[in-house]
Amino acid sequence: MPRLSVQGIWKAYPNEEDGETLVLEDISFEVKNGEFLSIVGPSGCGKTTLLKIIAGLLEPDKGHVSIDNVQVKPGHNQAGYIFQQESLFPWRTVRQNIAFGLEIAEIQEPEKNRSIDEIVSIVGMRGLEDNFPHEISGGQARKTEMARSLVTKPDILIADEALSNLDAQTRNYLQEELMRISQETGSTVLFVSHNVDEAVFMSDRILVMSNLPGKLIAEFSIDLPKPRIRTSPECLSYRARILDLLKVEQEKAMRDQARLKPPVAT
Ligand SMILES: Nc1ncnc2c1ncn2[C@@H]1O[C@H](COP(=O)(O)OP(=O)(O)OP(=O)(O)O)[C@@H](O)[C@H]1O
Ligand SMILES: [Mg+2]
Repeated sequence: MPRLSVQGIWKAYPNEEDGETLVLEDISFEVKNGEFLSIVGPSGCGKTTLLKIIAGLLEPDKGHVSIDNVQVKPGHNQAGYIFQQESLFPWRTVRQNIAFGLEIAEIQEPEKNRSIDEIVSIVGMRGLEDNFPHEISGGQARKTEMARSLVTKPDILIADEALSNLDAQTRNYLQEELMRISQETGSTVLFVSHNVDEAVFMSDRILVMSNLPGKLIAEFSIDLPKPRIRTSPECLSYRARILDLLKVEQEKAMRDQARLKPPVAT
C-alpha cells in the first residue's frame, strides 16, 4: 500500500482575462512509505499548488489525495509542511517556534517538552533553543522549520523549496542533514526543488513537471546507493537528462509568453 496516493488532480485559478487558468492537469502518482520523492519543474508550473492540495491546504477541482488509504480533507492536514518562504515567527524563540506545531495538535506536557527535546537534538539545534530567529543563521532557521514540521511526527514531510536562498555550502550541508533527519525519523518526504543537482543527490525518485498547465511528463528512479557523489558520472547523467527535458519546457514557456504579448504598435 502506498503511503501517499495522488489521483487525477485538476486545478484552475480564476483570472480576469479569460475566466480561468488551468494550473494542474490530471496529476497522478504514488509515494511509498519512507520514500524520498522530488518534483522538479519550471517556475510557475504549479508545484506549490500541488503541494498545498496534497497537504489539504487547498481544494482540487477534481481528483483526490489519500494518505494511508484515508482521503485528505481540506483543513485536516496530516503532513508536516515546510513553506517556500521562511515562516518562523520572529517574536517566538527557536523552542517556541518548534512548540507551535505541537500547540496546534494540542499536545500537552510532559510529552510536549520531550518531543521538542528529541527533535532539537535530531536537527542539531541544541544550545540555540532560546535564540530568536534574528539571532540564528539562515541555515539554522531552515533547520528550525524542519524541526517544527517534524515534531508532531507527521506521516509525510512536504518541503517546498526548503533549501532555497542559502549559500551553496549551507545548502549542501542541509541536503545531507535533511536526508539524515528523514531517515532517523522514518519520514516519507515529498520535496520540491528548482535545483536538479539537489534532487538527484537526495531522491529515490524524481518526477518532472511540464510548463503550465503542469502535467507529469517524466519519472526517474535514481538507482544509486546513498550517500551519493554529486559529481559522479551516474549523477551527472541523470542531471543532464532531466535538464534537457526542463530546457524544452522552458522554451515552450517563452514561446507561450511571446504569443500572449500584444503586438507592438507601429
Ligand atoms: N491564489 C492564486 N490565484 C491565482 N493564481 C495563482 C494563485 N496561486 C498561484 N497562481 C498561479 O498559478 C500558477 C502556479 O503557481 P505555483 O505557485 O503553484 O507555481 P510553482 O511551480 O510553485 O512556481 P515557483 O517554482 O515559482 O515556486 C502560477 O502561474 C501562479 O501565478
Ligand atoms: Mg512554488
